[in-house]
Amino acid sequence: MSGIGGKSRSAVGSTASTESGLDSQLDTFRQVRRSLETSILPLATSVDGRRFSFQASLHGLELQVGSYVVLESDGTRRLGQVLTVELGRQPVTELTLPAQAGAAEARTEVQVRYAYGEGAVLEGDWAPFHDVLVRAATGAEVRAWLERSEHGYAKLQLGELALVPDVPCTADASGFNRHTFLCGQSGSGKTYSLGVILEQLLIETDLRMVVLDPNSDFVRLGQVRAGADLALAERYQETARGVAVYSAGAPAGRRLRLHAAEIDPAMQAALLRLDPVNDREEYAALADLLASEKPPALQALTESDDPEGRRLGLRVRSLGVDRFSVWAPGESGSVLDAVSDQGTRCVVVDLGSLPTREEQALIAGAVLADLWRRRQERSPILIVIDEAHNVCPAEPSDQLVAMAADYATRIAAEGRKFGLYLLVSTQRPQKIPGNVLSQADNLVLMRLNSLADAAFAQAAFSFVPPSLIERSVIFRQGEALIAGKISPQPALLCFGARISQEGGADVPATWAAART
Ligand SMILES: Nc1ncnc2c1ncn2[C@@H]1O[C@H](COP(=O)(O)OP(=O)(O)OP(=O)(O)O)[C@@H](O)[C@H]1O
Ligand SMILES: [Mg+2]
Repeated sequence: MSGIGGKSRSAVGSTASTESGLDSQLDTFRQVRRSLETSILPLATSVDGRRFSFQASLHGLELQVGSYVVLESDGTRRLGQVLTVELGRQPVTELTLPAQAGAAEARTEVQVRYAYGEGAVLEGDWAPFHDVLVRAATGAEVRAWLERSEHGYAKLQLGELALVPDVPCTADASGFNRHTFLCGQSGSGKTYSLGVILEQLLIETDLRMVVLDPNSDFVRLGQVRAGADLALAERYQETARGVAVYSAGAPAGRRLRLHAAEIDPAMQAALLRLDPVNDREEYAALADLLASEKPPALQALTESDDPEGRRLGLRVRSLGVDRFSVWAPGESGSVLDAVSDQGTRCVVVDLGSLPTREEQALIAGAVLADLWRRRQERSPILIVIDEAHNVCPAEPSDQLVAMAADYATRIAAEGRKFGLYLLVSTQRPQKIPGNVLSQADNLVLMRLNSLADAAFAQAAFSFVPPSLIERSVIFRQGEALIAGKISPQPALLCFGARISQEGGADVPATWAAART
């Protein structure tokens, strides 16, 4: 360590406190240790001008993982970010404590405790440096650096930097042309924060979006909430007109419905739980029917002239597929039309409004399949999947869910070049298909339950300093780490307030109010 003495012997004789006994010796020991520990200089060294190591006193320590620092030496100023902070201990001196009444002379080693760690230089001359003073950057310095780093794309105002109050944290809107992974434990604020991101994308960009919403959390995305910032609310009102919510119980025109003919044959087979090998005869019969010039509606199969058709009809009936609320015989248009309509800015697919899991899986799969089928149109769209561990899980519960997961995986692997960008949110990184996770270039990480989950995220996002990811286990609600193309320098932030109404906020715990 620089700035503190090497190991030496020092005697504290006549200067020692005159109080008697052990207490006095302890006092002396503590005073010496405190004076050594406070004298540790905050110094940093870099051998490559990009990464630096530092030491600092633990007294009044301002440096934290993710915080910003200024590295100063004669006339040169660099801005850096702290990536690790550890507690160090080092023996530095031997102390002789003279005999006191009731206590014999004692010799003891004084160990000093200090902070040390590493960081990254974010801005500077990139030359190596040694023993330069390091201090916490002020809000104004961080703000000025952020302004200098801007490069012409729309900025999304997400909230404030977590460790630099009053400094806005923005995401680079152009970074959403990559897949994004949002992860955090239940209640960490994923859905709320996802809403903030979507609102900002709606206000600041022209990107179209479709939201697969299993908990009906975004059904009021188009409505401004009471108490929202007035100026923002006004801007939002304009764009919110482009939000179209499709729900099971909505009036015609916004009813969440689908025509059986819009579903591809493999998905129809999955719907009827037909296995191409084990049920090859029925599977082939279905394929023939669907390939015929006028394929019969699923609901009409029981009245088919063809015995195979009638057999399939019985299957349809016993599985209850004919009673699905999503079929809309006689109604024109479907949710797929809205998703492919370039004039509709944002389609919220209210999966939560559907009465059965099969219908949720069917609609989710059909939307993903349709987006994939139309990929050659190359029209950019953000595909938002909340609760992705249910919509496209790593271990699907049935064929239909497996198809949704399969299309999500295909889009993750190859969708980007066609303008299909995923924004996938989940509680557990290991519960979504590995390829969906590994293809994500952007990370929004909220509080995680366990270091095991953090390790999983670390493995998938190896470009993010592991110490920042580990910090997620101590995040509070609404705090997050963002990294990737949306934030080329990883940042810790507190998400700001929503402009629109939340669909499914937590039930308030009024039942636990203290009794008066
Ligand atoms: N930044 C925030 N400011 C104010 N309230 C918030 C914030 N983030 C979350 N909340 C509130 O906390 C509750 C839980 O948030 P949210 O539903 O977003 O969590 P979640 O991570 O999506 O949970 P789950 O995994 O169970 O869906 C909600 O009632 C929400 O209103
Ligand atoms: Mg949620």
